Amino acid sequence: MEIIIQPDPEAAAKKAAHIFAQTIRSNPKAVLGLATGSTPLPLYRELVAAKLDWSAITTFNLDEYTGIGPGHPQSYHSFMREHLFQHVNIDPARIHIPDGLTLDTEASCRQYEEKIRNAGGIDLQLLGIGSDGHIGFNEPTSSLASRTRIKTLTERTRRDNARFFGSAQEVPLHVITMGIGTILDTRRVLLLASGEGKADAIAGAVEGPITAMNPASALQLHERAVFCLDEAAASKLQRIDYYKWVYNNKPTWQQ
Ligand code: PGA
Repeated sequence: MEIIIQPDPEAAAKKAAHIFAQTIRSNPKAVLGLATGSTPLPLYRELVAAKLDWSAITTFNLDEYTGIGPGHPQSYHSFMREHLFQHVNIDPARIHIPDGLTLDTEASCRQYEEKIRNAGGIDLQLLGIGSDGHIGFNEPTSSLASRTRIKTLTERTRRDNARFFGSAQEVPLHVITMGIGTILDTRRVLLLASGEGKADAIAGAVEGPITAMNPASALQLHERAVFCLDEAAASKLQRIDYYKWVYNNKPTWQQ
């Protein structure tokens, strides 16, 4: 795991945006895994400002609420349109987001996995992290081998996301999310986290045991996982000085 610690959320997002921009420039046909939530907003702003060529880029979003359509203001379809897709030259046929209105969830989830495989797999996957350690919407006790499927949100996540809906009761109970196994299959993972509210989840994910109680800890099994954190999200890491030391003393070829 590579742990990058930056002074504030904007600086962390800038680092993450740089990694995404580099990927898009070096591989104009890259397959990107995308995330929603408050944390990636500054990252998407940076990517829009970078004026990259998205015409041959393919994207797969991590998750979507069920029961609300793509036109609902709080759907992740709307989120992606508003914060990224309408600002870049992406081909709409290359955008993939789970279908929250499907009448056949199992088939729809199976097809989502197939589409990822047919696209050649995900080159770079963006992740946020929930205060309970969830990645995508894989809540604690999700199988570490799970694939795209329906999940039930915890009360904590519904409270965390109430700010978007008005109240926790209005946050859909069920979601469709890529599984932890799906995420572990991606070639590279970039987890972006900021704020004190994520510090316990980050400490558990990076330095705790691998456990379904902290789904992000499964990333310890990923060959190329980068955690891009601000100081607050990194504040409960025991080896914070070591991670900074490693980052500041990279061999020249790796910088
Ligand atoms: P947030 O959500 O960026 O809005 O904190 C992250 C997540 O739940 O994965």
